[in-house]
Amino acid sequence: MAQGREHFNTQIGFILACVGSAVGLGNLWMFPWRLGQYGGAAFLIPYLLFVYLIGVTGLMGEYGLGRMTGKGPMGAFDQVLRKKGMLFGRTMGSYPVIITFLITIFYSVVTAWVVRYVWESFFPSFLEKQDFGAHFNSLFEGGPAILWLGVCLLIVALILGRGVSKGIEGINRIMMPALFGVLLIMIIRSATLEGAGEGFRYLLSPDWSQLTKPITWAMALGQAFFSVSLMGAAMVVYGSYLSKDTDIPYSSFITASFDTMAALAASLVIIPAVFAFGIDPAAGPPLVFVTMPEVFKSMTGGYFFSIIFFVGVLFAAISSLMSIMEVVVDGFMDQFNTSRKLSVGVIAGIAFVLGIPLALDIDNLTIIIDFVSIYLMPIGAVLAGLVFFVINPIKETRDEINVGSNNPVGRWWEPIARYVFIGVSILVVILQMLYQVG
Ligand code: PFF
Repeated sequence: MAQGREHFNTQIGFILACVGSAVGLGNLWMFPWRLGQYGGAAFLIPYLLFVYLIGVTGLMGEYGLGRMTGKGPMGAFDQVLRKKGMLFGRTMGSYPVIITFLITIFYSVVTAWVVRYVWESFFPSFLEKQDFGAHFNSLFEGGPAILWLGVCLLIVALILGRGVSKGIEGINRIMMPALFGVLLIMIIRSATLEGAGEGFRYLLSPDWSQLTKPITWAMALGQAFFSVSLMGAAMVVYGSYLSKDTDIPYSSFITASFDTMAALAASLVIIPAVFAFGIDPAAGPPLVFVTMPEVFKSMTGGYFFSIIFFVGVLFAAISSLMSIMEVVVDGFMDQFNTSRKLSVGVIAGIAFVLGIPLALDIDNLTIIIDFVSIYLMPIGAVLAGLVFFVINPIKETRDEINVGSNNPVGRWWEPIARYVFIGVSILVVILQMLYQVG
């Protein structure tokens, strides 16, 4: 299927799509609460270290592997391994695709809540609710839960059905600038709330003792991988739509940087706001869905800010979900030689059916999210690293990454990719298992 493969039109379109994939619920929903749980500013040390050292290296690898082979993980792993006489590449490459399918399911369920919140926030009666906790619980009730899941998957299917440049690239060109605009407006609004200073003090007073706990480091790495979409899947597929004149090292650095900015921006929006209204910042999953509406309810201009906030969260979530589902769509097209539209329809349909039990039960949902994002995803990233940094000759890998780059990486990069990336990733996967993170 490599022949006639679709392409991104421009480097900026590609970067926006990758930022779209990276910036998502992981940034706006998970990051602020992890920051709250694992030491505030102290958590930033392992997190930034992992994003820039491990994340950027991994992104270069995934974009490069995709571009070199022009294929998603199954075809790409196969092509590299076959050169060494190993015939299990496709089987190995099906691991990231299957895990990504699991992510498609839970990510759609949460994105469906956001679609519903956007819709509801247009009605002034939304902020008149007495109890947002009860409203959140009602998200899991029968018919409406299933309906919104269907709406969410339909939106994503319609975009993906339009293809790489018209669908994915086109929509990200609108959604990403809009999202960053929303974050900026919301930061200003939060900072000007009375009592916001408490939140800033909290963010800036690190609990260093957290750094002595291995769990903090394990969480930081899991979060970093999830946040930059590293798992040998989405970024390999986006890389496979690249032309040879795209600057991979630069694109990787920019993806990671915008991703970090979005995570920090989300924390600067949410934490001061919750402090201003005397709410617990370590509230966890309900932070965006229960706490923020409560904040909007009491805030001047709450109606307007709640609409733009949830539209921003929606753009972030949809642009990530697109990249997630695209992996499975591409895998299906590759395996069964079908058209894009058919593949999108089948995958969205199966995700809908399998998503229903999760849409109706938050306990199972959070267990699956933690299990997949903390344990299973980093393993996918390690596999892609093994394929491209260890099995493929490292010199060839570096040459591929440097094609079309004004900022080529030197030989110093080779041991970082081979030993630091692989070593640290494996170590942390093991630590997570030992400490039963989740
Ligand atoms: N990076 C996305 C987020 O932070 O929400 C999630 C994600 C996207 C994970 C794409 C994996 C992936 F392949």
